[in-house]
Amino acid sequence: MPILPSFASDDNSTPNDPMAVLNRVHPPRPDWYEELYASAMDKAMKSYEAEIAGYKSQLFDNLRGKANKILEVGIGSGPNLKYYSDYPGVNVFGVDPNRKMEKYARAAAEAAGIPPSNFKFTQAVAEALPLNDASVDAVVGTLVLCSVKDVDQTLQEVRRVLKPGGVYIFVEHVAAEDGTILRFIQRILDPLQQTLADGCHLTRNTATNIARAGFASFDVNQAVLSTASFVNPHVYGIAYR
Ligand SMILES: C[S@@+](CC[C@H](N)C(=O)[O-])C[C@H]1O[C@@H](n2cnc3c(N)ncnc32)[C@H](O)[C@@H]1O
Repeated sequence: MPILPSFASDDNSTPNDPMAVLNRVHPPRPDWYEELYASAMDKAMKSYEAEIAGYKSQLFDNLRGKANKILEVGIGSGPNLKYYSDYPGVNVFGVDPNRKMEKYARAAAEAAGIPPSNFKFTQAVAEALPLNDASVDAVVGTLVLCSVKDVDQTLQEVRRVLKPGGVYIFVEHVAAEDGTILRFIQRILDPLQQTLADGCHLTRNTATNIARAGFASFDVNQAVLSTASFVNPHVYGIAYR
């Protein structure tokens, strides 16, 4: 059985129908694979999350008191939910194609004190978000543009669902500089990484995609994290709709 089935689609739905796009860009993986990946994301990222906490705290401070409706694309096991624990009345909408992430994300929401009625998880992809235009105050995406099938389409969807003046907060790992040993290693390991980590690419330059996505303005910074090994450097920042 192939780990990653082909991206074939036999539906006749409209191009932006979220279910049709989900099935086309992220067809269901075997149950065991989705569970293994979800469990690994939940358990194996603790030291990474500890190292990046300072950067994330600064970024998420931009949302406090300003964002009531937050969309997390590729929410995974919900490592960012703890940053909203003191946002009164916050509503978080999590989107992820891996349905096995839901239980971990729900547990993280509960641990963060977010009432179940204020947290919703939907199985969908970022390339076709099941949300209306201009419907959220903030979109958060961490370690997601490496994994989506279509980065530019994802960023257009992020812009579409953001209210005017809304913000997109991102933390992404990107390709190392051309000509470096790290870049050479990334090129070698990229196919293996895609197979083991559900389509995650090591060699994307997603800061460039964000820069040309049509946001009114954006701030971007770079960091190298010792816990992320060859999955470096990281870009993090905020873009304004
Ligand atoms: C490396 S994990 C990051 C999860 C979480 N954001 C975090 O910071 O730990 C990548 C996540 O993107 C999700 N994903 C993969 N393809 C996607 C797509 N097309 N749209 C949205 N999410 C996607 C995966 O299921 C996974 O949960």
